[in-house]
This record gives sequence, structure tokens and C-alpha cells, in this order.
Amino acid sequence: MSWLTYFQRNQPLQQPIPWHLGVHPEPHLLRPLIASLQRFQLGESGEGRRLKRLAATLNDPDYTDAIGLFIAEEQRHAALMAQVLRAVGARLLRWHWSDAAFVLLRRIFGLREELLVLLVPEMMARRFFRALDDGTRDPVLRAVFAQIIHDEEGHVAFHIDTLRQLFADTSLLRRVVTRVAWRVLYRVACLAVICDHHRTLRAGGVSPLEFWWDCGLIFDEAAAQVLCGCELPRAAVAAFPGVAG
Ligand SMILES: [Fe+2]
Ligand SMILES: [Fe+2]
Repeated sequence: MSWLTYFQRNQPLQQPIPWHLGVHPEPHLLRPLIASLQRFQLGESGEGRRLKRLAATLNDPDYTDAIGLFIAEEQRHAALMAQVLRAVGARLLRWHWSDAAFVLLRRIFGLREELLVLLVPEMMARRFFRALDDGTRDPVLRAVFAQIIHDEEGHVAFHIDTLRQLFADTSLLRRVVTRVAWRVLYRVACLAVICDHHRTLRAGGVSPLEFWWDCGLIFDEAAAQVLCGCELPRAAVAAFPGVAG
């Protein structure tokens, strides 16, 4: 497994962001965008100490280092979103119930469950930031969202690949139970995102139903790879240099 190589190569491939142009969201997007970015910024700004500790239990130095670089990428996303928020005169959040709920859930179990819970917002973020990207013509915002979308694709594939290996020797019954529990959690989280961010989704031209449907497809693909042992599609592997070889 060479996800470490992927993250090492991805690090310097950051999109240039034309900050000098300033951030000028469409007027109808401004308020919902601020509310959404404040919550995502908080969620991605953690130090990941517990995840690092759990990752170390696998005794795989490459994996531990890859997790370190993954957390660094999430912190870069938080820094990008913080810069956007400051540019539009918005404050950063220090607490939000959705962030606290995820942190609490992730503390209950071991690495496998931690990654399953972690994947929930990661999978939804893929669809959410695509909606944001489609909903604005501001060059700074588009560059920021394009960078985040690119990185999140890698994050989802990285965790799926790890989980597939961690579930390799798990019984069929336990996989079925895991899938049901994971799906319930995911759908509850989808509902919470729709309730909390529907204005942002609508500003991005995505109806709640469309978001619900697309997130379901993302989940089904991930669950098949993690719990049914389906291989990542060739095209997906080719998209992450360093992983295939
Ligand atoms: Fe992120
Ligand atoms: Fe991520």
C-alpha cells in the first residue's frame, strides 16, 4: 500500500488561489455560504490526535505517516475556508453541535469504527463542495472548492482502501450488521446536512432530494468496496498516482 506516496506527491500540487482578486460570492449565496463554511471549517480544523494514536496500533509506519499527511490536508482545507470567511468579514466558529456529535461518536470504538464515522462527512463533502463549486463564478471560491474536491476524492479512496483490509477477515453477519448501522448513521447525517445547509445547496442549484439521492449512490459504492471486498475501479486507482504501483 503506497498511500503515503500519494499524499507526499499531492502535498506540493496545490491549486494557485488568486487571493489578490478578493472574495466576491453571488449576493444570494453569501449568507448560506458563510453558515456552511463556518461549520465545515470547524469540523476540519482538529488535530486528529486520537486518529493518529489509533493508526499507530496497526504498526505500519507508512500508514501512520499517511494519516499524518491526511490530517495535514484537512487542516489546509480548514485554513482555506478560514481565509475565505475572513475575506467576507465572517467569524470562525469555536463549537457546533454537529462537530461535537461526530467527535463523540468517533471516541466510542476502535480504528475501524473511527474510520467508518470519519467517512460519513468525507463522502457527503464530495457532493456538497461540488454543489458549492457549481453555484458560484467567483474565481477564488472556485479554486478553493476545486482543491477541496480533489483532495476529498483521495481521502475517501484512502479510508475505503484501509477499511477493506481491516474488514477482510470479518464474518458475513458482522459485515451485514455493520452495513446497516453505517447506513443508518449516514442517512441521519444526510438529513442533518439537508436541514442545516439546504439554503446553501439550493443556492448551488441542488435540491434536497438530489443531494439525498447522490449521497446514497456515493454510500452504496463505498459500502460495496469496504464490506463486499469489491475492488476500486481501475479508473479510480489510476486517479491516485502512487497507489497503483
Ligand atoms: Fe477536507
Ligand atoms: Fe477529507
